[in-house]
Parts: sequence; structure tokens; C-alpha cells
Amino acid sequence: MIAVVVGTRPEIIKMAPVILELQERGLDFTFVHTGQHHDYEMSKIFIEELGLPEPHYSFVLRGESPGEQIGEMIIHLDKVAKVKKPDVVAVQGDTNSMVAAAIAALKVGADVAHVEAGLRSYDWRMPEEHNRRMIDHISKYLFAPTEEAKRNLEEEHVYGEIYVTGNTIIDALDRYLSVAEERSREVLESIPFDEFGLVTFHRAENVDDPQTLKDFVRILERSPIPLVYPVHPRTRKRLFEFGLWEKVKEIKHVKLMEPLGYLEFIGVLKESLIVLSDSGGLQEEVTHPKIRKHILVLRTSTERPEAVKAGFAFVVGTNPVVVLSTLERVLEEKPQLPETSPFGDGKASRRIVDVLEGAG
Ligand code: UD1
Ligand code: UDP
Repeated sequence: MIAVVVGTRPEIIKMAPVILELQERGLDFTFVHTGQHHDYEMSKIFIEELGLPEPHYSFVLRGESPGEQIGEMIIHLDKVAKVKKPDVVAVQGDTNSMVAAAIAALKVGADVAHVEAGLRSYDWRMPEEHNRRMIDHISKYLFAPTEEAKRNLEEEHVYGEIYVTGNTIIDALDRYLSVAEERSREVLESIPFDEFGLVTFHRAENVDDPQTLKDFVRILERSPIPLVYPVHPRTRKRLFEFGLWEKVKEIKHVKLMEPLGYLEFIGVLKESLIVLSDSGGLQEEVTHPKIRKHILVLRTSTERPEAVKAGFAFVVGTNPVVVLSTLERVLEEKPQLPETSPFGDGKASRRIVDVLEGAG
């Protein structure tokens, strides 16, 4: 039996094609949501919109710190594993939920299957970098999205078997992009600009630092183009805490939004001129053949160098002078973009389920 664990927004989105593939093949699986992301617009909306089954198990976490939450999640997942006795537990990416799920699985004797294995930012400030390394080294099945990710794993002599599959985000866009065009009409009509850049910003090492968050607000203030900005709950909290929320609200050329559902979000993404973001997933989404946008990565490192090499992504950090001058240059020069994505051909979930089917 296969268990699939999710806990945050990007995991639901990126595991959706795997879950639907399992369902379409009639395979028996248990679907678990850890409760790390709990707001409707950070969790349930995706389960509904993407046509996923209700999770068989989901939890409410009481702790707030990463350690407390990881501990609680392990206890919950251990109980589920004792009842369901999965042969293999599939996790995705690099969040605290996924570390908890991988540890819980290993400790009950299940095999861990890691979707999106082998990414490395070599930036030890990032909790995600710790998480990726831990998960990769206790996984039996490692689904690397690219050859470069596979090489990272080989260099670290991981224990498990490596499969290069592509990234399931490309499968998700293939599945949902045409319906998104229809479903995002309303949100697009609410945007008062003809042309705009799309902004997201939530990385802990960025938004928990008052100076970096101030720099980000300055970027918004001085942007040469209007911006659409759905605000992540972590960032909203920090903007309030650091006394920056009112300032952001007053910027006339920035349209603030609640976090958007996936169908709305990718509809807006498709219509945007350019993306400014510190998101991991967005660095992949901009490379989809039907999206093809430039992204300024508001970070000093990336674990997705494939997007940089292919010409989609520019790692610019958060210094307003650097970000704004690069923004102007890219908008003016419009550097050419390839027709294909470095993150796969949209068949990653099939390849992954081929392996899971044999394992579970
Ligand atoms: C987490 C992941 C990050 C991922 C991101 C996706 C870790 C270490 N980080 O970051 O890798 O990119 O999810 O969005 O696992 N909050 C709410 N409601 C929610 C969720 C969060 O209010 O539904 C607020 C809470 O104040 C919470 C804070 O955001 O304390 C941070 O949430 P958390 O899940 O710890 O990390 P993210 O920043 O969301
Ligand atoms: N996303 C969304 N609504 C939003 C912002 C992002 O549906 O308001 C989607 C986006 O399309 C991508 C995923 O959320 O698939 C990225 O999640 P996030 O940036 O939170 O996490 P990361 O990828 O950085 O781990």
C-alpha cells in the first residue's frame, strides 16, 4: 500500500498529478495532510480545485516552532502508519511536513519515496536545504527532476535508487492550464492594470529579516511597472510586525491580493509581463512551454540552476538597485526564451507511479 503525504500549498499542487495518476490506475493509497498549512486558501482550496479526494487523515497542529510541529507530525503519522501499514510513503520537496513524514515512515519500516529529490541551493540559511538533505539520505526511491539533480545525489552517495522523471509541476500545468484560463477571468478583471508584473515573497530568510523586508517594500514602491501581489500569510504577519503593512497598502501601482487558488494564480501568471519572486515552484512554472516568462529570483541562491541556464531566471537578491536595474534591462531587452522546459515533458507523474506501483 502507498501513502501520499502533503502539508503545504506547493506539495498539494505538485502531488496532485501523482494522486490522480494513482486514482486513474485504480491503485490503493492513503492520502494524508499534516496540517502545516491550515488556512482554507493555503490548503483546502487546492484539494477542491484540483479535483483531489478528501485526505483520509488530516491534523490540527498545536505547536508553532518547527521543532514542535515536526515532533507532533511524526506522532500523528506514526499512528496512521501503524494502522495503514504502508509499504512506501511518498513525500514531495523540502518542507517540515516532508521531513516528519520521511522520518515517521522510516521508523515503521516503510520505504520513503522522494518526489523532487536532489535539489541543492548550498545555502545553509534555508530550512528547506536542511530538509532536502535529510529526506534524500533516508529515501529508497529518489525521483530527481533533472540530470543535474541526479548528479547532486550521486555526488553525495545517497542510499536509494535514483530515477530522472521531470518535475510534476509541468504535469500539473498541462492538466490545469486550459481550465485556469476560464477560472481566472474574474480575478483578471479585478486587476486595474493593462500590463503588470507578478510578485510573490515568503522565504523565511527573506521575510523574517526586517532589513530585507524593507528592501522588498522599496522594490515594490519603485517598480517601473504595476505589480500584482498575492501576499503569503507569513509575509503578511511580518509586514504587520515590522510596521510596513500600511506603507505597502498605500502603493497605488501595487494590487495586493489574498493568496490565490492555483487556477486563478496560473491564469494571472500567464497574463503577466514578468515575475519577481523568491518561490521555488515559480522558477519551474515560468518555464512551461505555454507560460514562458522571465523571473527575477529575489534570493542570493537557487536550487533550480536549470532555469537560470535556460535563460528564464535571474538570481538578483533583494538589493533594490540591483533588482530594479535588472527589471528594467530584462523588460527592455526581452532576452529570448527556449520553447521547452528544462523541468520535463509533463510525464513525470506517470514515471513516478510506474515505480510506486512496483514498490507498493
Ligand atoms: C513553508 C515551507 C516552505 C514553502 C512554503 C510554501 C518549511 C520549513 N517551509 O513555509 O519551504 O516554500 O511553506 O508556501 O516547511 N501561516 C498561516 N496560515 C497557513 C500557513 C502559514 O497563517 O495556512 C503563517 C503562520 O503564521 C505560520 C507562518 O505562516 O507561523 C509560517 O508557516 P510555515 O508553514 O511554518 O512556513 P511557510 O513560511 O509557510
Ligand atoms: N501559488 C498559488 N497561489 C498563490 C501563490 C502561489 O497557487 O497565491 C502556487 C504557485 O503556482 C506554485 C506554488 O503555489 O505552484 C508555489 O508555492 P510557494 O511559492 O508557496 O512555495 P515554494 O514553491 O517556494 O516552496
